[in-house]
Amino acid sequence: MTQGTGEKPSRIRRILVSSALPYANGPLHAGHILEHIQTDIWVRYQRLRGHICTYISADDGHGTTTMIKAEELGIPPETLLEQMKQNHVRDFQGFHIEHDNYYSTHSEENRILSERIYNQCLQQGHIHTSEVEQLYDPDKQMFLADRFVSGCCPKCGAPDQYGNNCEVCGASYEATELLNPRSRLSGQTPVLKSSKHLFFDLPAFTDFLKQWVDGPAIHPSIRNKLGEWLTGGLAQWDISRDSPYFGFLIPGYKDKYFYVWMDAPIGYIASFQNLLTRRADLDFDDYWDAEKAAAAGTEIHHFIGKDIVYFHALFWPAMLKCAGFRTPTRIHTHGFLTVNQSKLSKSRGGQSFEIASYLKHFDPEYLRYYFASRLSPGVDDIDMDLSEMARKVNSDLVGKLVNIASRCAKFINQHFDHRLSAQLPLESEFERAVAAGSEIAECFERADFAAGIRKIMALADDANEYIQQQAPWELIRNPETKDHAQAVCTQGLNLFRVLILYLKPVAPRLAGRAEDFLGTEPVSWANLEQPLLNRSIQPFTPLMKRLDEKALIRRMAPPPPPKEPAEEGSGLIDHSRFAEIELKIARILAAEEVEGADSLLKLTMDLGNETREVFSGIKSAYKPADLTGRLTLMATNLKAKKMRFGVSEGMILAAGSGQKIFLLSPDSGAEPGMSVT
Ligand code: 2FM
Ligand code: ZN
Repeated sequence: MTQGTGEKPSRIRRILVSSALPYANGPLHAGHILEHIQTDIWVRYQRLRGHICTYISADDGHGTTTMIKAEELGIPPETLLEQMKQNHVRDFQGFHIEHDNYYSTHSEENRILSERIYNQCLQQGHIHTSEVEQLYDPDKQMFLADRFVSGCCPKCGAPDQYGNNCEVCGASYEATELLNPRSRLSGQTPVLKSSKHLFFDLPAFTDFLKQWVDGPAIHPSIRNKLGEWLTGGLAQWDISRDSPYFGFLIPGYKDKYFYVWMDAPIGYIASFQNLLTRRADLDFDDYWDAEKAAAAGTEIHHFIGKDIVYFHALFWPAMLKCAGFRTPTRIHTHGFLTVNQSKLSKSRGGQSFEIASYLKHFDPEYLRYYFASRLSPGVDDIDMDLSEMARKVNSDLVGKLVNIASRCAKFINQHFDHRLSAQLPLESEFERAVAAGSEIAECFERADFAAGIRKIMALADDANEYIQQQAPWELIRNPETKDHAQAVCTQGLNLFRVLILYLKPVAPRLAGRAEDFLGTEPVSWANLEQPLLNRSIQPFTPLMKRLDEKALIRRMAPPPPPKEPAEEGSGLIDHSRFAEIELKIARILAAEEVEGADSLLKLTMDLGNETREVFSGIKSAYKPADLTGRLTLMATNLKAKKMRFGVSEGMILAAGSGQKIFLLSPDSGAEPGMSVT
């Protein structure tokens, strides 16, 4: 349902939204950021439309991985959970992701809810026990969680796949089906050992699921895959794990725990329930009880990656149905993310995109905008192309959008004492931009942000073209047309304001700065149709800086895959390996001693179009004052190196050692920034 532009919503929707719960056993990776940005944009959009939209997530704390990681660190799992949660929350906040509640599956609410749902399923006769032969590591004396076994996929044969699903063909299977299994804990070939397990009767829900999957909850791009699984026949779902395990004990057992995937989605409910302690306006049953939620018309939207569709579109609705809970309104599924074509496999802890480093050096809204421009409702994979990201940010946000404001503000501020005209000109650009809102709204509603952004940028092009055609710089010169220049620029700034509203879910801070500059209350769909007239604006300050493409690539591009070692014995390397080092001429702008460092000098290097800081071990041979102004050679494409005293962003070249160090210098005539070939 969408509302026409500027209309008040005809019905205020009550929507609960989740992003999938990141595992608590490691830091976030770019895939998590993509998903939470996607969700956050959708949530912000709904709120701007006047709906009551609640956004929850949590850390997914249970399972063998958490247990082993905590053991390795020599800390209790609970301490690890606490540390990781802080780490995750900090990173999410860094990207302006605003969960109403970010909780943990290892909570009392979740334990009680998991037991309740399990007991309901048990009472309905949908829990069975059965002896299971499992892979057991005799060395470690434990059954092996899926993650700790690798082998070849039994469906497509892909090598090096983990225990429960294949990253290549998407198949879901039992770890015992893997071909040539190996324990990842000890490297040993595991043995088969039998123990009693508890199963949820998923096949009993086949008819219900077939119907549900055909309904509006499922996007057509994943319906076929689900259909294949359903017609292929669903298996009983093993929901128990033997001790040792980190999780919730199953009622009635002393050594059996709920499998992490059993209580993880219940964590959505638990996070919501925990939020109720601070939010008297929300009611548990209105959102989660099957009958009451249907009567209340509340909605639940889950945002997930395509690798966990099986859990969310089959196990989860079946379990909810069985226990008398409502089922999700919609599952929004995105594809996998790569960075410059490098995979970020989460099961392998792919950390090729360092989030903390991004946040330290770049505006989070660059990434929000870029992801939004690539996200559509389907499950196509997304390659995060860093050059494309810089181009889009610079050309769209800075070159088109902010440019509208800066072009118009100049005239309003300098020639009209900061004052907007009392009326818009007769051309109806403003009405057209407002009218385009309904189509843009539809794009956001169906999470087709890429299409929404294309439309917004087409409007930005129109606005720039309008200003170009009207040429206020000429109108201003003639006293007879001077007033019209004011009206044209007022129209331009009103177009800017409309576009800022459309982009506000994507770039909320940019929108905030724009509102301050326009001197207006927060832009919203409700006040969109009212142009700003006959009032003052603030002096214009740049609302967004250009994104430095080189710096982005230097800091964020994944390292190249490891090269073949030098030919054995010869000590020789291939020419191509030498060519990988980017050498440039650089000028030392400043040199200073580093407190506490015996051999280092801190150098500020001019590379022509940028400056960098480098720490270099040349203190024994040079006085800082003698270095200022000298040209030298610098390796510029090395990954920034964290040192005790700061970060070194390259390396300068010198010969010798000890007190006999000779800085390499080019012949005269060379200039900073020249490449050394
Ligand atoms: O795949 C994952 O990263 C899981 N931790 C997601 C859980 S989502 C929900 F079901 F809990
Ligand atoms: Zn496979």
